[in-house]
Amino acid sequence: MEEQLKRELLFSREAVQEQIKQLALRISSDYEGRDLVLIGVLNGAVFFLSDLARNISIPLKIDFVRASSYGSGRESSGTVRLTKDVEIPLQGKSVILIEDIVDSGLTIDRLIKAIEEKSPESIRVCALIDKTERRRTDVEIHYCGYRIEEGFVVGYGLDYDENYRNLPDIYVLK
Ligand code: IMP
Ligand code: MG
Repeated sequence: MEEQLKRELLFSREAVQEQIKQLALRISSDYEGRDLVLIGVLNGAVFFLSDLARNISIPLKIDFVRASSYGSGRESSGTVRLTKDVEIPLQGKSVILIEDIVDSGLTIDRLIKAIEEKSPESIRVCALIDKTERRRTDVEIHYCGYRIEEGFVVGYGLDYDENYRNLPDIYVLK
């Protein structure tokens, strides 16, 4: 058994679901009549994407990318590798990249550049959490669930060394 670190509740599952409904309403109205593709960033965004997608009322497609930068620590290593690409064609599509959390911004920056090469009509970013203190790029997060300054958060897809993703609520590690 791995040791469980001390944690403190930050956002309850009910609050998260309410926030997601609001984001989904905005996206449904902003993308009416367009070819929407949600691209989830594995693994962290799986629960967020699946709840968000089910609250969006317009037709859409779903695909996933995977990037690696973190290794197993709490801080970005600085170099980001794309380890899984999208599989559906994105030319002319309205893409929203779905991230669990944007921290330094290096991962999402790298992913935006990779998606841009596929000639989509547009690319926006939707992040459940925007963590601002360590930002190193000026990436715009069009749809944001929560803004926090600092802290390492887990649960609802967010991990520490691949643990805690299955917690239904979001916690700060102590
Ligand atoms: P960035 O490249 O520094 O923006 O890091 C983005 C990635 O780091 C996210 O996709 C997360 O997987 C991970 N990450 C950053 N901060 C946290 C956190 O507080 N909890 C869990 N994962 C985090
Ligand atoms: Mg992670």
